[in-house]
Amino acid sequence: MSLNLSVIGTGYLGVVHAAAMVQLGHTVVAVDVDEAKITQLSAGKAPIYEPGLPELLAAALATGRLTFTTDYGRAADAHVHFVCVGTPQRPGENAADLRYVDASFEELAKHLHGPTLVVGKSTVPVGTAQRLDEMLRAKAPGGPDVTLAWNPEFLREGFAVKDTLHPDRLVYGVEAGPRGERAKALLDEVYAATIADGTPVVVTDFATAELVKASANAFLATKISFINAMSEVCEAAGADVVSLAEAIGHDDRIGAKFLGAGIGFGGGCLPKDIRAFMARAGELGADQALTFLREVDAINMRRRSRMVDIAREQCDGSFIGKRVAVLGAAFKPDSDDIRDSPALSVAAQVRLQGAHVTVHDPQAMDNARSKWPDLSYADSALEALQGAHVVLHLTEWQEYRELDPKVAAEHVAQRRVVDGRNKLDVARWTAAGWTLRALGRPTAL
Ligand code: UGA
Repeated sequence: MSLNLSVIGTGYLGVVHAAAMVQLGHTVVAVDVDEAKITQLSAGKAPIYEPGLPELLAAALATGRLTFTTDYGRAADAHVHFVCVGTPQRPGENAADLRYVDASFEELAKHLHGPTLVVGKSTVPVGTAQRLDEMLRAKAPGGPDVTLAWNPEFLREGFAVKDTLHPDRLVYGVEAGPRGERAKALLDEVYAATIADGTPVVVTDFATAELVKASANAFLATKISFINAMSEVCEAAGADVVSLAEAIGHDDRIGAKFLGAGIGFGGGCLPKDIRAFMARAGELGADQALTFLREVDAINMRRRSRMVDIAREQCDGSFIGKRVAVLGAAFKPDSDDIRDSPALSVAAQVRLQGAHVTVHDPQAMDNARSKWPDLSYADSALEALQGAHVVLHLTEWQEYRELDPKVAAEHVAQRRVVDGRNKLDVARWTAAGWTLRALGRPTAL
């Protein structure tokens, strides 16, 4: 059945969710307080770089079943409201900043006059759904008829469209009893096409649904920091973390994914989510359970410093008067997102220590320029390499993996490259006369 849906918030999550819901056959009103963004989206222009999103958005708009607005009132009649606003880290603290979630629920509540389902998708500290459920019942004019469900989102940037249309699983946090059953039935209708494809559904309570999201991201962060901890030991022992990861990854119980050793995780999710998780566990008196996440965070940050140290070694011990080429600014490839980007964090540290740093990224240049105006930027990878004493490969875009090391060699002052993502073809680069250093790998490769 085709339903009327609203999507509140048109960030990374909301914009993809809104367009994907149209693809699933529904009619969607997407609401955001940012007028400029709404104008842009109404014209079919995606505000972020995300593979497949422009096509999905264009197809959704062409159906006439997708509208963008700043007016919450236009969302009032939807059968289901999805709240997709951000929960960034609170400045100067570890905890999540819930101001956007609270504001959007408060604003939405004013417009809920009859039976309807509100679905939270944002990543929130456990306990938030319960609090918001009570708020909706107290403040929405249709109070007792308004039901809440928590339906966390697990999409990855770069794969957002695929992950939204074909998720690994759906999780519904609902209350016990008939209201919860109605919420489940309605969510089953929303996701009917996805469920028909075989997507498993886990139905649980609010708190568990919130914790599923926090623990999934904590697990992924831990897996990355685990392999990066092995990297540190490999460096001390003269061993090779890439072979090690391959070998342990063959064990199905461990799995090969998320064992990519390098400069570690960044972005708008994993770093702030593990910190918010620790902060919330502390409030609940369970801080001891998550002290290991402090180490996960520390290992992750140490990799950035280690990258800077290896780069300095490759500049013969000092960055003063040296030119450093940085390949990559986004926190991961196939994204223009630079939030907590390990690449830019390394670039900034290198610059602070006296190098002239030139950055290139296939998609994130505008974002990088506005946030880090002190760095220099080049329009192409080869231009960034011009006169470089060392090249730092920090975000593993396909373009950099395909870079011809022989051609690259013609542009640099010294053939020295440090692979911060362990993705360059060592044999090709060394055959072209480069000295290649990498994190967690023997010095002579
Ligand atoms: C992450 C989760 O993977 C999603 O499931 C989740 O929905 C999302 O956060 C979120 O909470 O919204 P995302 O931040 O898009 O998704 O990116 P990831 O693919 O998880 O990568 C995160 C970081 O880890 C990147 O900086 C990446 O370069 C790094 N990484 C990833 C590694 O250093 N090694 C790896 O093996 C894998």
